[in-house]
Amino acid sequence: MENSSSMRKPIIVGNWKMYKTPKESLAFLDAFLPLVAGHERDEIALFPTISSLGYVLDALAGSNVRAGAQNMHWLDEGPYTGETSPTMLMSIGCKHVLLGHSEQRLYFNESYDRVNLKLKAAINHGITPVVCVGELLAERQDGKTEEVLRDQLRTAMNNITASEAAHLVIAYEPIWAIGTGSTATPEIAAEAHAIIRHQLAECCTPTLAENTRILYGGSVKPENISSLMQQDGIDGALVGGASLAAANFAAIVKYA
Ligand code: PGA
Repeated sequence: MENSSSMRKPIIVGNWKMYKTPKESLAFLDAFLPLVAGHERDEIALFPTISSLGYVLDALAGSNVRAGAQNMHWLDEGPYTGETSPTMLMSIGCKHVLLGHSEQRLYFNESYDRVNLKLKAAINHGITPVVCVGELLAERQDGKTEEVLRDQLRTAMNNITASEAAHLVIAYEPIWAIGTGSTATPEIAAEAHAIIRHQLAECCTPTLAENTRILYGGSVKPENISSLMQQDGIDGALVGGASLAAANFAAIVKYA
């Protein structure tokens, strides 16, 4: 029997962080695209730096791989040095954006109030947002994981309706697992995903919660992707380090 989670097509996302020049990005695609040609089971997306994004989008035209930006401002234009707007992303064909990544929160003072503004802007422009949430190690050790995830989502989703959030993707990224090599166990991840889904039902509607894809991120590798994807509420992965090499990332996309 098909369960309702089969409505949620899995999505495997590569987050390249501050790696790869345009030349290196295109060399990756030359190696990667043949490895995933015809792969339909999962959606595939890459998030290069802003300097590579236009080249990557052009190179991906007609392929089964999408690309998005790692961040954006919420306004269309203005005196905001160093920022990129949603209209600018749209103008180069970019229809996905990562919001609230923990590295933005930890190193550049990103807040969930701002994530909320950016999320509204993404929705208004028809850009698919991937919103990151996740707790610090100390918060987990203090038994605050549920409270932290709920607060993050509540703020990010403030004044956003279920129909507006229809294309929203959430990434659960426990900060203690990012770039550390220590992945959350599938059980820990599934428990956090259930908390997030419950909160989405409260913020919006149970139907939205049921339909929203929730990705796991934090030291995902070819060796652990299958056990994570076997968990009922895990609908994909956000992959940092292991998305930088084409063969590695293709192995993750094609998990058993
Ligand atoms: P990682 O990063 O896979 O290198 O742990 C994940 C992320 O930051 O999105």
